[in-house]
Amino acid sequence: MTAYNSTQPANAWHTARREAAVNLYLSGAQGDAGALVGARVAGFPVELYVIPVSDWIDPQELTDAAAAVIQVDADSPASIKRFKRLATSTATPLVAAAYEPPLALVRALLKAGAHDVLPLPLDIVDLEASLMPVHDRRAAPEAPTLPTRAAKLVTVIKSVGGVGATALTTQLAIRFARSEASQGREACLIDLDVQFGDAAFQLGMRPRLTLADLFQAGSRLDGALLRSVTTRHESGLQLIAAPAEMMPLELMASDQLMEIVAAAKREFGTVFVELPTNWTNWTLSLLATSDLILLVTDLGVGSLHRARRQLDLITSQDLDALDIRVVINRFDKSQYRSLGADNVATALGREVAFTVVSDPALMRSATERGVPIDALKRKSQLGKELDLMNAALAGALGLER
Ligand SMILES: Nc1ncnc2c1ncn2[C@@H]1O[C@H](COP(=O)(O)OP(=O)(O)O)[C@@H](O)[C@H]1O
Ligand SMILES: [Mg+2]
Repeated sequence: MTAYNSTQPANAWHTARREAAVNLYLSGAQGDAGALVGARVAGFPVELYVIPVSDWIDPQELTDAAAAVIQVDADSPASIKRFKRLATSTATPLVAAAYEPPLALVRALLKAGAHDVLPLPLDIVDLEASLMPVHDRRAAPEAPTLPTRAAKLVTVIKSVGGVGATALTTQLAIRFARSEASQGREACLIDLDVQFGDAAFQLGMRPRLTLADLFQAGSRLDGALLRSVTTRHESGLQLIAAPAEMMPLELMASDQLMEIVAAAKREFGTVFVELPTNWTNWTLSLLATSDLILLVTDLGVGSLHRARRQLDLITSQDLDALDIRVVINRFDKSQYRSLGADNVATALGREVAFTVVSDPALMRSATERGVPIDALKRKSQLGKELDLMNAALAGALGLER
C-alpha cells in the first residue's frame, strides 16, 4: 500500500492498481485525504493527485476512473471554471469539494453537473455515502448472472501434513481451471492453510496481496475487491494466497471467512479451498457448506488412522450426507497389496474414491515450476489420474463440459 509521504513529488501518491479508482484532485492532503490513500471508498481504491486548484486536469485521466473528486475554491474563479469545463468533457461522475462552500456555489456546481458537493477537509464517511450510488450503478450491469446452483465449493482436507495435499490440490485445480476456461467459466483456489500454506509457491506465483488483505477489508467485500486480491495462474486459475505471515487460526472470524468464500463462489463459480491440518472453529462450517470434500491421505498407518478420525468426527456432526471422497496420494501398488485393499477400506470405514500414483520426481518438478505436470511430460500415469479426478469432479458438481 502506498503511504502518504510529503517528500514525494506531487501526484505520485497513487496505488498501482488497474481497476477503476476514485481520483482525488486536491491542493493538499488535509483531513482524511491522506488517510484515504491506499484505502477503499465505496469499494474503489483511491488515488490522490495533489495539484493547485487552478491547474488544468486532462479529461483523459478520468476516462477509466470510477469517479473523481475535484477541489473548487469559492474565491478562485479559475477553479470553478476548471470544474465546469471538466464536467462538460467527461462522463465520469465528478464530486466537487470546497472549504465552506457558499450556497450559491453549491447550486452552481450542481447545475454544472456535479454528482455531489462535499465540504473540505474531506471526510471518509461523507465520501463513502456520496459514492455508494456510483458503486451500485457500476455493479448492477455486472451483477453475477451465474445461477447460484452453478457456484460450487470443493474443500480439501488431509490426514496429516506432508501427504501431498497442496501438490495435489494445485495440480488438480489448474487442470480443472483449464477445462473450465474452455467452457467460458472460471475457478478459484483459496489457500486457507493460513499458517503453512504454500499453494502460491507451488503454483510458481508471488502474490502481492493475500487473504490477510481480504480480512482487513472487512465488510466492503465485492467482486472488484475480491479480484484485486486474486492472482491469475496461466491456466486461468484465480488464486487467493495464504497470508505471507503466519496468522493465528482463531484470529480468523468464522463468519467473515464464510463471507469471503461465498463472495468467491459468486464471482468465480467453482471455488477450491485447502484447509489446515488442525481443525479450527471454522472447519465444520466450511465442510457443511461444501459440495464436495476431498480427504487426502497416504497409505501410512498413522495417516490412515488420522483420516478415519476425521471421517468419524464429520459423521458425529450429522454431516455424513456430505459428498466426501477419499484420495490416496503417493499411491504405491505393492504397498497397497501388502496392506490389502479390504484392510485399507476397513481402516478408513469407507471405500477409496481415487488413487494418485507416487511419482516424486515429476510432482516435484511440476510444483517447483508451478506448471501442470503434462507441460513436463505429455503422457504419464500421474497425468491420467489427475484427468480422471478432474472429470469426476466436474461430474459430481454437475458441470457440463
Ligand atoms: N503423487 C505424489 N507422488 C510423489 N510425491 C508427491 C506426490 N504428491 C506430493 N508429493 C510430494 O510430497 C511432498 C509434500 O507435499 P505437499 O503438497 O507440500 O504436502 P502437504 O500440503 O500435504 O503438507 C512434496 O515433496 C511433494 O512433491
Ligand atoms: Mg501444504
